Amino acid sequence: MRKANIAVFASGTGSNFSAIVRAVKTGVIKANLALLICDNPDAPVINKAVRAKIRTVIIAAKDFPSRDSFEKAVTGVLRGCNVDLIVLAGFMRILSPVFVKSYPKRIINIHPALLPSFKGAHAIRDAFEYGVKVTGVTVHFVDEQTDHGPVIMQEPVRIGNKDTLPRLEKRIHKVEHRVYPEAIDLCLRGRLRLRGRKVVR
Ligand code: GRF
Repeated sequence: MRKANIAVFASGTGSNFSAIVRAVKTGVIKANLALLICDNPDAPVINKAVRAKIRTVIIAAKDFPSRDSFEKAVTGVLRGCNVDLIVLAGFMRILSPVFVKSYPKRIINIHPALLPSFKGAHAIRDAFEYGVKVTGVTVHFVDEQTDHGPVIMQEPVRIGNKDTLPRLEKRIHKVEHRVYPEAIDLCLRGRLRLRGRKVVR
């Protein structure tokens, strides 16, 4: 059986990308990390991919007149590499329903809060400022809505009296870097059941 191919989409720092690279190297994820697609030419994740010798394709969204034309370029790249799973890791772009529908149950995302609470780009800060005592990390399939779709894994993180926002951010990211590789491995092994239905790849 051929090894599955993963494509990571990222726009920024790339700490989750690095955790995925490590997990592939150490065999926690038994797949090829075929590709990084980055929509931001200035993103630090690009250097991380170059150092790890992962094929990197920069598709700068600002060079395209519409989301549709940007996504067509992305699809063109993916078509050439037999991608089994698309892993969003800090990808700061909302994918269109057309794109999402063309990869059913094959796009996953990590969100730094316990969905459906604290959706959006500032989830850690929003949870901290709200004053919740428990927040966490969610890995989910991507559907047509933002930060929404069947949950694959969740892990709670308690917010203690000593937590500052930077400390909480650090703690959440540490959990992400452990949970995301585990969730990716689970998806690739076809071991997930969503309300009784097996998800096959
Ligand atoms: C992570 O907190 C992830 O949950 C969110 O974006 C952040 C990306 O961080 N979707 P990094 O680029 O992986 O360091």
